[in-house]
Amino acid sequence: MVSKTIERVSAVDRALEVHFGDGNSIKFEDCWLRDHCRCSSCYHAETFQRANHILDIPDVTITEYRHDKSQVFVTWSDNHQSSYTQDFLSQFDYKQWRENRRLKPLLWHGDINNKVTKIQVDEFLNSVNGSKKVFQSLLDFGVALIEGVGATLGDTEVVCKALGGVQHTIFGGMWQFTTRADHADTAYTNLPLAAHNDNTYFTEAAGLQILHCLEHSNGTGGETILVDGFYGATQLKKEYPEDFEFLTKFNLEAEYIEEGHHQTYSAPVIKVDSETEDLVQIRFNVYDRAPMAFADGETCRSYYRSLRNLAKYYQNPSNQWQFKLKPGTVMVMDNFRVLHGRTGFSGSRVLCGSYVARSDWLDRARALNLIH
Ligand SMILES: [Fe+2]
Ligand SMILES: [Zn+2]
Repeated sequence: MVSKTIERVSAVDRALEVHFGDGNSIKFEDCWLRDHCRCSSCYHAETFQRANHILDIPDVTITEYRHDKSQVFVTWSDNHQSSYTQDFLSQFDYKQWRENRRLKPLLWHGDINNKVTKIQVDEFLNSVNGSKKVFQSLLDFGVALIEGVGATLGDTEVVCKALGGVQHTIFGGMWQFTTRADHADTAYTNLPLAAHNDNTYFTEAAGLQILHCLEHSNGTGGETILVDGFYGATQLKKEYPEDFEFLTKFNLEAEYIEEGHHQTYSAPVIKVDSETEDLVQIRFNVYDRAPMAFADGETCRSYYRSLRNLAKYYQNPSNQWQFKLKPGTVMVMDNFRVLHGRTGFSGSRVLCGSYVARSDWLDRARALNLIH
């Protein structure tokens, strides 16, 4: 990092413009400067928290300012004194500040077996580098594979905790279930499942989904299907821009109903950052769509047309990565981005897994200095 110096400070209306030695300058409004006073009566340095309510910040003006190479000093009309270091101030160049906060997913389609991180569980659990590899793969591709895990719920839980902690939902924390398709028990199905995101009916969908196939005996099939939701949305934007636009605006209602539960949530299928236009979340699940009323026929027709056009990318086998999960390999995927499904199967399967909240896995990635 280039160490900057403060070369010059000038007053512009009620702001101070700070000119740095590298040629950049940043303008700070006086209200911002007073709010960001780092003295001990304005800021608790130990907890990184402001000390005052926003209503208690006095509406004051700058009566005097000066600087040296490393700090700006301000005296206020109520005689309060503030100082700001060059390190602190230089973080707030707007373009750089915003750019630092953007995630930079690497779009993919097809088989990415050679790109995603595959790592032994010991390296993931016991080394910072191993941990970084897993979270970087989740940030880049939305997928990581952790190998050599004991084929038990308990061993899987240890991995889930290290990914940020188990997210509890109406389905519990850690879950495990058996599908005995060969027993013709209709409670469990062996049918194929088209690629989808989970929890489209939650106000906060699961951040990560963790899946571990503990056993698959006396049968075949049951391959995992993954597809990059961001890639499909990006293709839609190129080829059917009006459909992309519709899916970023239209609030699609999803629902989950069982005895004692009725979850429902309405939101766009494609969530986009209003300023950067970066893709933020894909909320695509054809099964959990709630029956809806439409304002007019055109909106209704747009709903079907745009969802079908998006679905074509997700259903296209050349966009999908299909592989067989084996006991010992824990699959981790970003449920805000990657869609998952499976092919039909025969025999008996035992699966376990859990969710991790998005806040919690991004917290880990931030603590590892992978993101801002
Ligand atoms: Fe699912
Ligand atoms: Zn202060």
